[in-house]
Amino acid sequence: MIKRILKWIFLLILIGGFIWFEIAYWTSSNDCDHKVAPSNPIKAAIYCDYGLTNLRIENIEKPVPTDDQVLVKVRAVSVNPYDWHFVEGSPKVIRLLGAGLRKPKDTRLGVDFAGVVETVGKNVTQFKAGDEVFGGRGGAFSEYVTPRANRAIAIKPANVSFEEAASINIAGLTALQGVRDKGKVQAGQKVLINGASGGVGTFAVQIAKSFGADVTGVCSGRNVELVKSLGADRVIDYTKEDYTNAGQKYDVILDNVANHSLSENRKVLTPNGKYVLIGGGNANQQGWIGMLGKPLKALVMKPFVSQQMGMMMAEMKQSDLQYFADQMQSGKLKPVIDRTYKLDQIKEAIAYVEEGHARGKVIVTVD
Ligand SMILES: NC(=O)c1ccc[n+]([C@@H]2O[C@H](COP(=O)([O-])OP(=O)(O)OC[C@H]3O[C@@H](n4cnc5c(N)ncnc54)[C@H](OP(=O)(O)O)[C@@H]3O)[C@@H](O)[C@H]2O)c1
Repeated sequence: MIKRILKWIFLLILIGGFIWFEIAYWTSSNDCDHKVAPSNPIKAAIYCDYGLTNLRIENIEKPVPTDDQVLVKVRAVSVNPYDWHFVEGSPKVIRLLGAGLRKPKDTRLGVDFAGVVETVGKNVTQFKAGDEVFGGRGGAFSEYVTPRANRAIAIKPANVSFEEAASINIAGLTALQGVRDKGKVQAGQKVLINGASGGVGTFAVQIAKSFGADVTGVCSGRNVELVKSLGADRVIDYTKEDYTNAGQKYDVILDNVANHSLSENRKVLTPNGKYVLIGGGNANQQGWIGMLGKPLKALVMKPFVSQQMGMMMAEMKQSDLQYFADQMQSGKLKPVIDRTYKLDQIKEAIAYVEEGHARGKVIVTVD
Protein backbone atom coordinates (compact mmCIF):
# COMPACT_ATOMS: atom_id res chain seq x y z
CA MET A 1 0.00 0.00 0.00
CA ILE A 2 2.73 2.50 1.09
CA LYS A 3 4.71 1.51 -1.97
CA ARG A 4 1.76 2.33 -4.21
CA ILE A 5 1.21 5.75 -2.53
CA LEU A 6 4.90 6.62 -2.91
CA LYS A 7 4.75 5.60 -6.57
CA TRP A 8 1.76 7.92 -7.16
CA ILE A 9 3.41 10.82 -5.29
CA PHE A 10 6.57 10.39 -7.37
CA LEU A 11 4.53 10.27 -10.58
CA LEU A 12 2.55 13.41 -9.62
CA ILE A 13 5.77 15.31 -8.80
CA LEU A 14 7.20 14.26 -12.15
CA ILE A 15 4.12 15.32 -14.09
CA GLY A 16 3.85 18.58 -12.07
CA GLY A 17 7.53 19.34 -12.75
CA PHE A 18 7.08 18.67 -16.45
CA ILE A 19 4.00 20.92 -16.68
CA TRP A 20 5.78 23.70 -14.71
CA PHE A 21 8.81 23.47 -17.02
CA GLU A 22 6.68 23.59 -20.18
CA ILE A 23 4.70 26.63 -18.95
CA ALA A 24 7.86 28.40 -17.72
CA TYR A 25 9.64 27.63 -20.99
CA TRP A 26 6.91 28.82 -23.34
CA THR A 27 6.02 31.93 -21.31
CA SER A 28 9.69 32.94 -20.94
CA SER A 29 9.97 36.29 -22.72
CA ASN A 30 11.73 39.65 -22.61
CA ASP A 31 11.24 43.33 -23.42
CA CYS A 32 11.87 42.71 -27.16
CA ASP A 33 8.23 41.57 -27.34
CA HIS A 34 6.94 45.07 -26.55
CA LYS A 35 9.43 47.55 -27.96
CA VAL A 36 8.64 51.26 -28.30
CA ALA A 37 10.66 53.75 -30.36
CA PRO A 38 13.07 55.62 -28.00
CA SER A 39 12.51 59.36 -27.64
CA ASN A 40 16.13 59.98 -26.65
CA PRO A 41 18.01 57.19 -28.47
CA ILE A 42 21.46 55.80 -27.68
CA LYS A 43 23.21 52.76 -29.17
CA ALA A 44 23.49 49.51 -27.21
CA ALA A 45 24.15 45.81 -27.87
CA ILE A 46 20.89 43.84 -27.58
CA TYR A 47 20.13 40.12 -27.90
CA CYS A 48 16.48 39.10 -28.01
CA ASP A 49 17.27 35.37 -28.37
CA TYR A 50 20.20 33.22 -27.27
CA GLY A 51 23.10 32.89 -29.73
CA LEU A 52 25.85 35.30 -30.76
CA THR A 53 24.28 35.67 -34.22
CA ASN A 54 21.29 37.31 -32.52
CA LEU A 55 23.38 40.08 -30.95
CA ARG A 56 22.93 43.45 -32.66
CA ILE A 57 23.43 47.15 -32.08
CA GLU A 58 20.09 48.91 -31.62
CA ASN A 59 18.74 52.24 -30.44
CA ILE A 60 17.41 52.20 -26.90
CA GLU A 61 16.21 54.92 -24.53
CA LYS A 62 19.01 56.93 -22.91
CA PRO A 63 19.01 56.00 -19.19
CA VAL A 64 18.20 58.59 -16.53
CA PRO A 65 20.17 58.12 -13.30
CA THR A 66 18.25 57.61 -10.05
CA ASP A 67 19.18 59.66 -6.96
CA ASP A 68 22.00 57.21 -6.07
CA GLN A 69 23.32 56.62 -9.59
CA VAL A 70 25.90 58.19 -11.87
CA LEU A 71 25.30 58.63 -15.61
CA VAL A 72 28.50 57.66 -17.42
CA LYS A 73 29.25 58.28 -21.11
CA VAL A 74 31.03 55.02 -21.98
CA ARG A 75 34.40 55.20 -23.76
CA ALA A 76 35.59 51.57 -23.51
CA VAL A 77 34.22 48.20 -22.38
CA SER A 78 36.13 44.96 -21.89
CA VAL A 79 34.92 41.55 -23.03
CA ASN A 80 34.83 38.65 -20.55
CA PRO A 81 33.91 34.97 -20.94
CA TYR A 82 30.92 36.02 -18.75
CA ASP A 83 29.55 37.82 -21.84
CA TRP A 84 29.58 34.77 -24.10
CA HIS A 85 28.17 32.58 -21.28
CA PHE A 86 25.11 34.86 -21.23
CA VAL A 87 24.70 35.59 -24.94
CA GLU A 88 24.99 31.86 -25.72
CA GLY A 89 22.98 30.80 -22.63
CA SER A 90 25.78 28.35 -21.96
CA PRO A 91 26.16 26.17 -19.92
CA LYS A 92 22.43 25.50 -20.19
CA VAL A 93 21.98 25.41 -16.43
CA ILE A 94 22.31 29.24 -16.29
CA ARG A 95 19.03 29.45 -18.23
CA LEU A 96 17.37 27.44 -15.47
CA LEU A 97 19.06 29.48 -12.74
CA GLY A 98 17.54 32.77 -13.86
CA ALA A 99 19.01 33.88 -17.21
CA GLY A 100 15.73 32.89 -18.93
CA LEU A 101 14.62 29.45 -20.09
CA ARG A 102 13.71 30.03 -23.76
CA LYS A 103 14.81 33.65 -24.21
CA PRO A 104 17.24 35.82 -22.22
CA LYS A 105 15.38 37.81 -19.54
CA ASP A 106 17.96 40.60 -19.66
CA THR A 107 18.64 41.53 -23.28
CA ARG A 108 21.61 43.83 -22.49
CA LEU A 109 25.22 42.65 -22.42
CA GLY A 110 28.62 43.70 -21.05
CA VAL A 111 29.80 44.72 -17.59
CA ASP A 112 33.25 46.33 -17.42
CA PHE A 113 33.21 49.99 -18.47
CA ALA A 114 35.37 53.11 -18.38
CA GLY A 115 34.07 56.55 -19.31
CA VAL A 116 33.23 60.10 -18.28
CA VAL A 117 30.56 61.16 -15.78
CA GLU A 118 27.85 63.23 -17.49
CA THR A 119 25.49 63.84 -14.54
CA VAL A 120 24.93 62.44 -11.04
CA GLY A 121 21.81 61.71 -8.97
CA LYS A 122 20.94 64.17 -6.20
CA ASN A 123 22.32 61.98 -3.37
CA VAL A 124 25.70 61.44 -5.06
CA THR A 125 28.58 63.35 -3.51
CA GLN A 126 31.60 61.18 -4.47
CA PHE A 127 31.47 61.90 -8.23
CA LYS A 128 30.73 64.93 -10.40
CA ALA A 129 30.27 65.73 -14.10
CA GLY A 130 33.55 65.42 -16.00
CA ASP A 131 35.14 62.77 -13.69
CA GLU A 132 36.87 59.95 -15.59
CA VAL A 133 35.74 56.69 -14.02
CA PHE A 134 35.77 52.90 -14.41
CA GLY A 135 33.92 49.97 -12.90
CA GLY A 136 31.18 47.43 -13.58
CA ARG A 137 27.53 47.71 -14.50
CA GLY A 138 25.24 45.36 -16.48
CA GLY A 139 24.51 46.49 -20.03
CA ALA A 140 27.90 48.16 -20.52
CA PHE A 141 28.12 47.49 -24.28
CA SER A 142 26.30 50.77 -24.76
CA GLU A 143 26.86 54.51 -25.07
CA TYR A 144 25.76 55.10 -21.45
CA VAL A 145 25.64 53.17 -18.16
CA THR A 146 24.22 54.12 -14.75
CA PRO A 147 26.25 52.47 -11.95
CA ARG A 148 25.30 53.07 -8.32
CA ALA A 149 27.75 55.57 -6.83
CA ASN A 150 28.51 53.42 -3.78
CA ARG A 151 28.98 50.18 -5.68
CA ALA A 152 31.31 49.31 -8.57
CA ILE A 153 32.76 52.62 -9.74
CA ALA A 154 36.04 54.41 -9.01
CA ILE A 155 38.01 57.37 -10.35
CA LYS A 156 40.32 56.47 -13.25
CA PRO A 157 43.90 57.68 -12.73
CA ALA A 158 44.94 60.26 -15.37
CA ASN A 159 47.93 58.16 -16.51
CA VAL A 160 45.68 55.16 -17.31
CA SER A 161 43.84 54.92 -20.65
CA PHE A 162 40.08 54.24 -20.87
CA GLU A 163 40.93 50.89 -22.52
CA GLU A 164 43.21 49.87 -19.62
CA ALA A 165 40.71 50.99 -16.99
CA ALA A 166 37.87 49.11 -18.73
CA SER A 167 39.89 45.90 -18.50
CA ILE A 168 39.83 45.79 -14.69
CA ASN A 169 36.46 45.00 -13.16
CA ILE A 170 35.73 41.27 -13.63
CA ALA A 171 39.16 39.87 -14.51
CA GLY A 172 41.15 42.10 -12.16
CA LEU A 173 38.88 41.67 -9.13
CA THR A 174 38.75 37.91 -9.72
CA ALA A 175 42.55 37.73 -9.82
CA LEU A 176 42.93 39.88 -6.69
CA GLN A 177 40.30 38.01 -4.69
CA GLY A 178 41.71 34.66 -5.90
CA VAL A 179 45.26 35.50 -4.82
CA ARG A 180 44.52 37.51 -1.65
CA ASP A 181 41.24 36.15 -0.24
CA LYS A 182 40.89 32.56 -1.47
CA GLY A 183 44.51 31.59 -2.05
CA LYS A 184 45.71 33.69 0.94
CA VAL A 185 49.04 33.90 -0.84
CA GLN A 186 52.02 34.72 1.40
CA ALA A 187 55.53 35.87 0.49
CA GLY A 188 57.77 32.96 -0.44
CA GLN A 189 54.92 30.57 -1.30
CA LYS A 190 54.94 28.65 -4.54
CA VAL A 191 51.93 29.65 -6.66
CA LEU A 192 50.88 28.13 -9.97
CA ILE A 193 48.56 30.04 -12.29
CA ASN A 194 46.96 27.86 -14.94
CA GLY A 195 45.84 30.04 -17.86
CA ALA A 196 48.40 32.73 -17.01
CA SER A 197 48.10 34.58 -20.34
CA GLY A 198 44.33 35.27 -20.29
CA GLY A 199 42.30 38.10 -18.77
CA VAL A 200 42.39 36.81 -15.18
CA GLY A 201 45.82 35.18 -15.50
CA THR A 202 47.72 38.29 -16.63
CA PHE A 203 46.45 40.15 -13.55
CA ALA A 204 46.97 37.16 -11.21
CA VAL A 205 50.64 36.75 -12.20
CA GLN A 206 51.35 40.42 -11.45
CA ILE A 207 49.41 40.39 -8.16
CA ALA A 208 50.89 37.11 -6.86
CA LYS A 209 54.36 38.41 -7.70
CA SER A 210 53.65 41.70 -5.87
CA PHE A 211 52.67 39.60 -2.80
CA GLY A 212 56.20 38.12 -2.88
CA ALA A 213 55.22 34.67 -4.20
CA ASP A 214 57.34 32.41 -6.38
CA VAL A 215 55.11 32.28 -9.46
CA THR A 216 54.79 29.63 -12.15
CA GLY A 217 52.53 30.44 -15.09
CA VAL A 218 51.02 27.93 -17.51
CA CYS A 219 50.21 28.98 -21.11
CA SER A 220 51.03 27.99 -24.69
CA GLY A 221 54.46 28.61 -26.24
CA ARG A 222 53.47 31.84 -28.03
CA ASN A 223 52.69 33.48 -24.65
CA VAL A 224 55.72 32.32 -22.64
CA GLU A 225 57.65 35.59 -23.07
CA LEU A 226 54.57 37.68 -22.20
CA VAL A 227 53.97 35.77 -18.94
CA LYS A 228 57.68 36.05 -18.01
CA SER A 229 57.54 39.79 -18.68
CA LEU A 230 54.67 40.06 -16.15
CA GLY A 231 56.98 38.70 -13.46
CA ALA A 232 56.54 34.91 -13.52
CA ASP A 233 59.62 33.09 -12.21
CA ARG A 234 58.90 30.06 -14.40
CA VAL A 235 56.54 29.41 -17.31
CA ILE A 236 55.27 25.98 -18.36
CA ASP A 237 54.27 25.62 -22.01
CA TYR A 238 51.27 23.29 -21.75
CA THR A 239 51.78 22.05 -25.31
CA LYS A 240 55.10 20.53 -24.20
CA GLU A 241 54.70 19.77 -20.50
CA ASP A 242 51.84 18.85 -18.15
CA TYR A 243 52.16 20.73 -14.85
CA THR A 244 50.48 17.88 -12.98
CA ASN A 245 53.29 15.54 -14.04
CA ALA A 246 56.29 17.84 -13.58
CA GLY A 247 57.10 16.75 -9.99
CA GLN A 248 56.89 20.27 -8.50
CA LYS A 249 54.51 20.97 -5.56
CA TYR A 250 52.63 24.26 -5.06
CA ASP A 251 51.11 25.99 -2.01
CA VAL A 252 48.39 27.58 -4.14
CA ILE A 253 46.99 26.73 -7.58
CA LEU A 254 44.76 29.29 -9.30
CA ASP A 255 42.98 27.50 -12.09
CA ASN A 256 41.49 29.52 -14.97
CA VAL A 257 41.31 26.53 -17.32
CA ALA A 258 40.01 23.51 -15.33
CA ASN A 259 41.52 21.02 -17.77
CA HIS A 260 42.82 18.64 -15.06
CA SER A 261 40.89 16.60 -12.51
CA LEU A 262 40.84 17.51 -8.82
CA SER A 263 42.97 14.42 -8.04
CA GLU A 264 45.60 15.49 -10.59
CA ASN A 265 45.71 18.95 -8.99
CA ARG A 266 45.87 17.47 -5.45
CA LYS A 267 48.94 15.46 -6.50
CA VAL A 268 50.90 18.71 -7.04
CA LEU A 269 49.57 20.59 -4.00
CA THR A 270 51.47 20.70 -0.70
CA PRO A 271 49.63 18.88 2.17
CA ASN A 272 47.90 22.11 3.29
CA GLY A 273 47.83 23.68 -0.17
CA LYS A 274 44.87 25.50 -1.71
CA TYR A 275 43.30 24.83 -5.09
CA VAL A 276 41.18 27.76 -6.26
CA LEU A 277 38.98 26.97 -9.24
CA ILE A 278 38.13 30.15 -11.12
CA GLY A 279 36.64 28.78 -14.32
CA GLY A 280 37.50 27.21 -17.63
CA GLY A 281 36.35 25.72 -20.89
CA ASN A 282 35.64 27.47 -24.16
CA ALA A 283 32.15 27.87 -25.62
CA ASN A 284 32.14 24.36 -27.14
CA GLN A 285 32.97 22.66 -23.84
CA GLN A 286 30.09 23.83 -21.62
CA GLY A 287 27.23 21.33 -22.16
CA TRP A 288 24.60 21.38 -19.40
CA ILE A 289 26.63 22.29 -16.32
CA GLY A 290 30.02 23.49 -17.62
CA MET A 291 32.65 23.44 -14.87
CA LEU A 292 30.10 23.22 -12.05
CA GLY A 293 30.69 19.49 -11.53
CA LYS A 294 34.14 20.19 -10.09
CA PRO A 295 33.09 22.30 -7.07
CA LEU A 296 30.47 19.65 -6.22
CA LYS A 297 33.16 16.96 -6.29
CA ALA A 298 35.39 19.22 -4.18
CA LEU A 299 32.58 19.50 -1.59
CA VAL A 300 32.28 15.71 -1.40
CA MET A 301 36.08 15.37 -1.05
CA LYS A 302 36.32 18.06 1.66
CA PRO A 303 36.10 15.89 4.81
CA PHE A 304 38.66 13.42 3.45
CA VAL A 305 41.52 15.67 2.26
CA SER A 306 43.90 18.06 4.04
CA GLN A 307 44.05 20.49 1.11
CA GLN A 308 41.44 23.22 0.56
CA MET A 309 39.75 22.79 -2.79
CA GLY A 310 36.85 24.79 -4.17
CA MET A 311 35.48 27.29 -6.62
CA MET A 312 35.45 31.05 -6.07
CA MET A 313 32.95 33.63 -7.27
CA ALA A 314 34.32 37.15 -7.56
CA GLU A 315 32.44 39.97 -5.81
CA MET A 316 32.10 43.58 -6.90
CA LYS A 317 33.95 45.67 -4.31
CA GLN A 318 34.62 49.39 -4.62
CA SER A 319 37.69 49.08 -2.39
CA ASP A 320 39.16 46.50 -4.78
CA LEU A 321 38.61 48.84 -7.76
CA GLN A 322 40.50 51.46 -5.74
CA TYR A 323 43.34 48.93 -5.21
CA PHE A 324 43.70 48.72 -9.00
CA ALA A 325 43.47 52.49 -9.44
CA ASP A 326 46.35 52.90 -6.94
CA GLN A 327 48.46 50.08 -8.44
CA MET A 328 48.04 51.40 -11.99
CA GLN A 329 48.65 55.00 -10.98
CA SER A 330 51.95 54.07 -9.33
CA GLY A 331 52.93 51.94 -12.34
CA LYS A 332 53.08 48.72 -10.25
CA LEU A 333 50.45 46.96 -12.37
CA LYS A 334 49.70 47.24 -16.07
CA PRO A 335 46.75 45.65 -17.86
CA VAL A 336 47.64 43.61 -20.96
CA ILE A 337 45.47 44.59 -23.93
CA ASP A 338 45.23 42.07 -26.73
CA ARG A 339 42.86 43.56 -29.33
CA THR A 340 40.53 46.53 -29.61
CA TYR A 341 37.25 46.50 -31.55
CA LYS A 342 34.55 49.13 -32.25
CA LEU A 343 31.05 48.78 -30.77
CA ASP A 344 29.63 47.73 -34.15
CA GLN A 345 32.21 44.87 -34.23
CA ILE A 346 30.90 43.48 -30.94
CA LYS A 347 30.16 40.01 -32.41
CA GLU A 348 33.74 39.63 -33.66
CA ALA A 349 35.10 40.72 -30.27
CA ILE A 350 33.01 38.18 -28.36
CA ALA A 351 33.66 35.41 -30.93
CA TYR A 352 37.39 35.95 -30.45
CA VAL A 353 37.14 35.59 -26.65
CA GLU A 354 34.89 32.53 -27.09
CA GLU A 355 37.77 30.72 -28.78
CA GLY A 356 39.56 30.69 -25.39
CA HIS A 357 42.93 32.08 -26.49
CA ALA A 358 42.76 35.79 -25.72
CA ARG A 359 46.08 37.27 -24.70
CA GLY A 360 45.15 39.52 -21.79
CA LYS A 361 42.05 41.63 -22.32
CA VAL A 362 39.91 42.35 -25.39
CA ILE A 363 38.39 45.84 -25.52
CA VAL A 364 35.44 47.40 -27.32
CA THR A 365 35.66 51.17 -27.75
CA VAL A 366 32.55 53.37 -27.89
CA ASP A 367 32.73 56.68 -29.75
N1 LIG B 1 34.66 32.45 -10.78
C1 LIG B 1 34.62 33.72 -11.15
O1 LIG B 1 34.17 34.61 -10.41
C2 LIG B 1 35.18 34.07 -12.50
C3 LIG B 1 35.49 35.39 -12.81
C4 LIG B 1 36.09 35.67 -14.04
C5 LIG B 1 36.31 34.65 -14.95
N2 LIG B 1 35.93 33.39 -14.63
C6 LIG B 1 36.19 32.29 -15.56
O2 LIG B 1 37.58 32.05 -15.54
C7 LIG B 1 38.02 31.57 -16.80
C8 LIG B 1 39.18 32.42 -17.27
O3 LIG B 1 38.73 33.75 -17.52
P1 LIG B 1 39.61 34.72 -18.40
O4 LIG B 1 38.91 36.03 -18.45
O5 LIG B 1 41.03 34.68 -17.95
O6 LIG B 1 39.50 33.98 -19.81
P2 LIG B 1 40.31 34.24 -21.14
O7 LIG B 1 40.88 35.60 -21.13
O8 LIG B 1 39.43 33.84 -22.27
O9 LIG B 1 41.53 33.18 -21.01
C9 LIG B 1 42.10 32.67 -22.13
C10 LIG B 1 43.48 32.13 -21.78
O10 LIG B 1 43.39 30.75 -21.40
C11 LIG B 1 44.59 30.12 -21.85
N3 LIG B 1 44.43 28.68 -22.06
C12 LIG B 1 43.62 28.05 -22.93
N4 LIG B 1 43.82 26.70 -22.86
C13 LIG B 1 44.78 26.51 -21.92
C14 LIG B 1 45.41 25.36 -21.38
N5 LIG B 1 45.09 24.12 -21.79
N6 LIG B 1 46.34 25.51 -20.42
C15 LIG B 1 46.69 26.76 -19.98
N7 LIG B 1 46.14 27.90 -20.48
C16 LIG B 1 45.19 27.77 -21.42
C17 LIG B 1 44.89 30.81 -23.17
O11 LIG B 1 46.28 30.74 -23.36
P3 LIG B 1 46.86 30.20 -24.76
O12 LIG B 1 46.33 31.12 -25.83
O13 LIG B 1 48.32 30.32 -24.54
O14 LIG B 1 46.34 28.81 -24.93
C18 LIG B 1 44.38 32.23 -22.99
O15 LIG B 1 45.42 33.15 -22.73
C19 LIG B 1 36.79 31.63 -17.70
O16 LIG B 1 36.23 30.34 -17.76
C20 LIG B 1 35.84 32.57 -16.98
O17 LIG B 1 34.49 32.27 -17.27
C21 LIG B 1 35.38 33.07 -13.45
